[in-house]
Formats: sequence, structure tokens, C-alpha cells
Amino acid sequence: MKKTKKNSVWGTRMNKVVSSVLQSANSSIEIDKRLFQEDINGSIAHCTMLAKQKIIDVTKSKKIITGLKKIEQEIQKNKFIFKTKYEDIHLNIEKRLFEIIGTDAGFLHTARSRNDQVTTDFKLWIKKSSNEIKNLLNVLIKSFLNLADKNTDIIMPGFTHLKNAQPVLFSHYLLAYIEMFKRDIVKFNNVINNLNENPLGAGALAGTSYNIDRHLTSRLLGFSKPTQNSIDSVSDRDYAIEFLFASSLCAMHLSRLAEEIILWNSDLINFINIEDSLLTGSSMMPQKKNPDSAELIRGKTGSIYGNLNSLLITMKGLPLSYFKDMQEDKAAVFSAYDNLKLNLLLATELIKGIKPNKKKLYEAALKGFTTATDFADYLVKKGISFREAYKKSAQLVNIAEKSNKRLDQLDFTIIKKIDPVIEKDVMNVFDIRNSIEKKISFGGTGRKNVINMIKKIKKEFK
Ligand code: ARG
Repeated sequence: MKKTKKNSVWGTRMNKVVSSVLQSANSSIEIDKRLFQEDINGSIAHCTMLAKQKIIDVTKSKKIITGLKKIEQEIQKNKFIFKTKYEDIHLNIEKRLFEIIGTDAGFLHTARSRNDQVTTDFKLWIKKSSNEIKNLLNVLIKSFLNLADKNTDIIMPGFTHLKNAQPVLFSHYLLAYIEMFKRDIVKFNNVINNLNENPLGAGALAGTSYNIDRHLTSRLLGFSKPTQNSIDSVSDRDYAIEFLFASSLCAMHLSRLAEEIILWNSDLINFINIEDSLLTGSSMMPQKKNPDSAELIRGKTGSIYGNLNSLLITMKGLPLSYFKDMQEDKAAVFSAYDNLKLNLLLATELIKGIKPNKKKLYEAALKGFTTATDFADYLVKKGISFREAYKKSAQLVNIAEKSNKRLDQLDFTIIKKIDPVIEKDVMNVFDIRNSIEKKISFGGTGRKNVINMIKKIKKEFK
């Protein structure tokens, strides 16, 4: 096997240089360079603590921190050269620190291992990114609210099994998605709340013989307390899996929305129009306008689930504590984050770029005998049991179907034959607008309910 000329990092202990194949498999710098800010912040906190505890002297710590800040600038300005032979972000920064400040750089890694360093960085990154996802969810919810608020007069068929079920307000339908996204925010809050323990100071796995102050680094890095067990500290990736689960759930909600948008936009259903900027054409069929934006949301969801599955599988066979397998965690989390972010942005644009086809939606709600339940309820209110009323309503539907009419097109004389309790007022029951007005139960599609709900949620998402 081909060998690299010079051993990159582990010179003293190894008799042979690292195989070039191992070097490429082992190098994670192209992926984990995204942790640079967290790595520098973590190092500055660690170094500050080492000086405060008199583990290293103040002059050296100042020199180290100045060097770290210079590296931060270099990376931010794209002037830093990341090197594969230095494996990952932690060693790349440390090696550069040596170049900038000389041998004093060697004091920074006192009482620390890459094992506690990487998990500290990763926790900080996931916390930051969960907050970003929450912000994007907020923006998405606001665009839903806006669309719902503007269209409280639009009626559509609600479905079960994709068969017309009962009429609902289009706005009510949109509010259903808002509930899903509100739960996503709760999930990401849970992820954040579970990230409050600082693993820095666990060392490689056993803790350290130095008099470090883990409460100080916790405060400096925004954690509420140090982790309680050094072995668990470096073994734990639950937080990354929780992030991937919250991301998967959120992606699933977005994917259901995407599927709905694709169906609604189809020539078969035609419930909505989508703004041209969110559609793409066909290379062959000149007439086509395809909802790729929604299809991509649906497609990327599969990849996000894959990331969750991948990390669960990586972790399931690992004894404690750290193994290199765990280095694969970053690729999974970063990819899920990138895709989820795109999906949230695409969904927001789609909601802004949708025009409901009011007439089509209304006409669809008239079909499929969607007021049959209202008729049963009418009979119940006249004293008949629901099961009896259900049968009678089914009978009426059969009659209407045979004569190729909607329920609201039947003559009173025919309806009256179903049961003697039926009076003239029955004719109101078959109007889909009345059907909606009657849904007064909390959380139902009644217009007043929906309008109040929009107001309530608007207050929550100012
Ligand atoms: N790049 C490594 C990772 O992400 C850092 C930890 C290295 N620790 C070790 N014992 N080799 O997992």
C-alpha cells in the first residue's frame, strides 16, 4: 500500500507512516471545518479556565487566545488553508496555532482531549442550528397565517382516504399545518434544553488530574452545568440523534404539505395555482410547468430520514466510550440540517406563491354528499338515535346517487319520505356553508372558531 512521505500527526509512537488510504478515510476536515467557530470558542474558554486555575500562566494564555482570534479571522476571511493531513478541525487549528505563536501553543491541549473537544463543539453547533431552524419555522408559520387570514371565505372539501368527507374552510386546513409546525418548535426546544450539559473537561474518558474548573467553562460557553460522568460525556451522541429525529419529524410535516401541494396543483384537481418562479419546465414538452419545488421537499425528506437511521445504526453497536465510527455523526447532522433548511425556505416560498382557486374548491366541496353527516345530526336533534339517523342518511344518499343529484338538489317531498320528523328547515342542512357554520365545537372548522384561532396564533407569532 502506498505510504505518505511524512507521518502527519502521530510521529513519535508510530514506526510507519500513515497509509494514504487511511489518511483519506480518516480525514474529516472537509466536513467538520463547519465547527470552526465552536472549536475556537471552546478553546478560548478552556484556555481562560486553565489560566484562572493557574494550570498555565497568564502570559501564555493571552498569547494562545490572541493566536486563536487570529485563526478565527483567517477562517472567516477564507484565508485559512485546511490540510487533510491534520485530520480534523481541532488539529488544523492547533497546528496553525503553532505556526503563529510557536511552541507555547503546546500548552493549550493541557487537560483536554479531542474526545471532549469534539462533542463540546458539536453540542454548541447543534444548539445554534436548532435555534436557526426554529426561526425558519417561525417565518413559515407567519406565511401560513397570512394566507389563512386572507382566505377565510374559501370553502373546500375535507378528505379522509382522499374521498370527500365534510366541507371545511381552506383557512382551517392551513391552520392544521401550523399546529404541526408548532409541535416542531417544541421538539427543537427540547433538543436545545437537552443540550445544557458541558462535556468539556471529561478528557479522553477518565477526567483529568489537573484542578480544572468545569463550572467556569460551562458558564463561558453558555451551558448550565458540566456533565456528570466523564465516560458518558465522550460516548454520548443522543443529542445529535434527537436533532436528527426532530429534523425528520419536521421534514415529514413539510413532505405531507409538499404532497398536498403537488396534488392540488395537478391538472386533475386544480385547487391552486403556483407562482411561476417556483415551477420548472420540461426539456421536451413546451407546455409544462412542474411543481419541482414541492417535489424536492418531498425528495429531500428521504435523505433526512436516512441521516437519522444512519446515526442510530452507527451508535447501536458501540461499547463505551469514543470510537472513530462516531466521526460519521457530523456528515449526517450537517446534511440533515442543510436539507431541512432548504425545505423550510422552499415551503415558505410556496405558501407565499400559492393562489387558491376559490371556485374549484367550492365546487369540489359540493360533490361527494359532504353534508350527509349534517343530515344525520339533524335527525338526531329531532330525537332519533345517531345509529338510526346514520342509516336514514345513507338511504338518502343512495336515492340522490341513483337520481344523479346532489343532496341539496333533492325535492323536499322525497326527503320527507325518509322520516316523519323531517320538516321544511331540513333544506338548510344541505348547504355546505351552513355545514361549516354549525361546526361550533372548539378546534372545529366553524368560521368564528377559525377567525379566533388565527387571531390567537397571530399573537403567539408576532
Ligand atoms: N475528528 C474526530 C471526531 O469527529 C475527533 C475526535 C478524535 N478522537 C480520537 N480519539 N481520535 O470524532
